Amino acid sequence: MQITETSESLREQLADWRQSGEHIALVPTMGNLHDGHLSLVEIARQHAERVVVSIFVNPMQFGDGEDFAAYPKTLELDKRRLKRANVDLLFVPNLETMYPFGIDNATSVTVPVLTDELCGSFRPGHFDGVTSVVSRLFSLVQPDVAIFGEKDFQQLMVIRRLVKDLSLPVEIIAGATRREDDELALSSRNQYLTEEERAIAPQLYATLKKIGEGLQSGKRNYTKMEQQAMNDLEALGFKPDYVSIRRAENLGEPDRDTDELVVLVAAHLGKSRLIDNLVVHI
Ligand code: PAF
Repeated sequence: MQITETSESLREQLADWRQSGEHIALVPTMGNLHDGHLSLVEIARQHAERVVVSIFVNPMQFGDGEDFAAYPKTLELDKRRLKRANVDLLFVPNLETMYPFGIDNATSVTVPVLTDELCGSFRPGHFDGVTSVVSRLFSLVQPDVAIFGEKDFQQLMVIRRLVKDLSLPVEIIAGATRREDDELALSSRNQYLTEEERAIAPQLYATLKKIGEGLQSGKRNYTKMEQQAMNDLEALGFKPDYVSIRRAENLGEPDRDTDELVVLVAAHLGKSRLIDNLVVHI
């Protein structure tokens, strides 16, 4: 596995592969890799001859008081895992490579409206940070395909929208959420949980499943179901930001006849802010 930190050496390597007619898949990450990330690498492998993984903890997508400084960094371990997964190239840019004019003067890319709600309303500026860094990564790597996890459902929608709106020549592929045995979604932020919180954490997905069962059994009182789930989570010790039932195709408000729904949740548990979602076909 090659490891490169500069855009110049990245471009040189990619040019060689492209000249040989090879396709390139990109898996953008912030490192601290778990099996969820590695499952995205496997998907990447199925879509291209060459797999590039990027690791960059992007300061632009963290708000004041969020966990940028504390975000777990495990580069040596990540390298070993990626090597074992047969990744061709690991791109580990520094701040200057990603933001040559500095964060405060950086060109920002905004996907409007879709980013104002759900996580966007609790983390102002977060999605601008994501779309700004992902646009840079797309422009540096120029991948044929890029793989994003479904756990970050809103992020996936935002990136699909970015790509469509700007006609970016990259195909976006979603990777299913990977879970622990007790169904807690894998996330780097699970590490912040104490033992007691970790025991409660699977209730987040259990709450989504309860709503899913309600929807399957014909319930359509979305607001009431969301409120009940918020109350349940609070009683368990979470501080929920939202529980929301939306249209799976575009995150719009569903009506009684919508048959592809997604239930999304974000909730604080101790120091962690956990998110999860469940797609429900009725
Ligand atoms: O999902 C993530 O880890 C990040 O938001 C991403 C897509 C790598 C951009 O920094």
